[in-house]
Amino acid sequence: MLRRLHKEQPASFVFTPMNLEWAKGQISKYPDGRQASAIIPLLWRAQEQEGWLSRPAIEHVADMLGMAYIRALEVATFYFMFQLAPVGSVAHVQICGTTSCMICGAEELIAICKEMISPSSHTVSAHGKFSWEEVECMGACTNAPMAQIGKDYYEDLTAAKLRDLIARFSNGEVPVAGPQNGRYSSEPLGGLTSLKDFESGRTQYNASAQRAVDLGDTVKRIDGTEVPILTPWLKDKVKA
Ligand code: FES
Repeated sequence: MLRRLHKEQPASFVFTPMNLEWAKGQISKYPDGRQASAIIPLLWRAQEQEGWLSRPAIEHVADMLGMAYIRALEVATFYFMFQLAPVGSVAHVQICGTTSCMICGAEELIAICKEMISPSSHTVSAHGKFSWEEVECMGACTNAPMAQIGKDYYEDLTAAKLRDLIARFSNGEVPVAGPQNGRYSSEPLGGLTSLKDFESGRTQYNASAQRAVDLGDTVKRIDGTEVPILTPWLKDKVKA
C-alpha cells in the first residue's frame, strides 16, 4: 500500500515538556554522532502525543536528531505502526487480514468496521471515536481472527464479538484483552491435550491479559505520566 502524508496537516508540532524530557533521555542513550538511532522511539512518542504522525511532527523529530527530513520520512512511511492520518479519539482498530485470520472470518470483522466506524479505512468515524484499517499478520494466528484495538490484542473474534467490543469501547468501557471465546491463551478450546504436567498455576486471565488488568491498562495513549523518567545519567551530567 502506498503510504503518503495526509493532505491536511497542522501548522506545527512541539513535544509537551514531559515528552521532551523523555525524548532527550532517549537521545542520550546513543553515542555522539549516532542520535539518529533514537528516531523510532521519538516518532512513536510524537504519535502517542497527537494520535498520528503529521509532517511537522516528523520534521520536528528530524531536527532534534540532526537528520535530513527525507530520512525521517523514510522511517515514518516504511513502518505500518506509524499512522499518517488522524485516528479515532478512543481507538484505532487494526484488523488482521492475512491467511489464518482471513480463513477464519476477517472479512466479517472488516464488514463490522465498515458499518460501525467508516465505509473506508483510515477515516475517522462520524462521532470521532474510531478509525480502522486492515493490517498484515500480527503474530496471533492461532487465535484467528483477531484485531488490535489500541495497544491490545482481541482474539478469537466473531462479527458479533467485535460489534460488542466496539460498542463497549464507545461507552467508555475497557473490555479485557485476549481470547474472546473462553480460551485461556492459544491452547485448544477444550483445554490442554498434551504436556499437561507443565501447566503452571493459572491467574484469572492469561499472562498478558492479566498484566493489563493488574495495571489497569486502558486504550489511553501514552502521555509521559505513566512511569518516572529513567535516565539518571542526565541528572549526573547536570550536577557535574
Ligand atoms: S494471520 Fe492474523 S495474526 Fe497471523
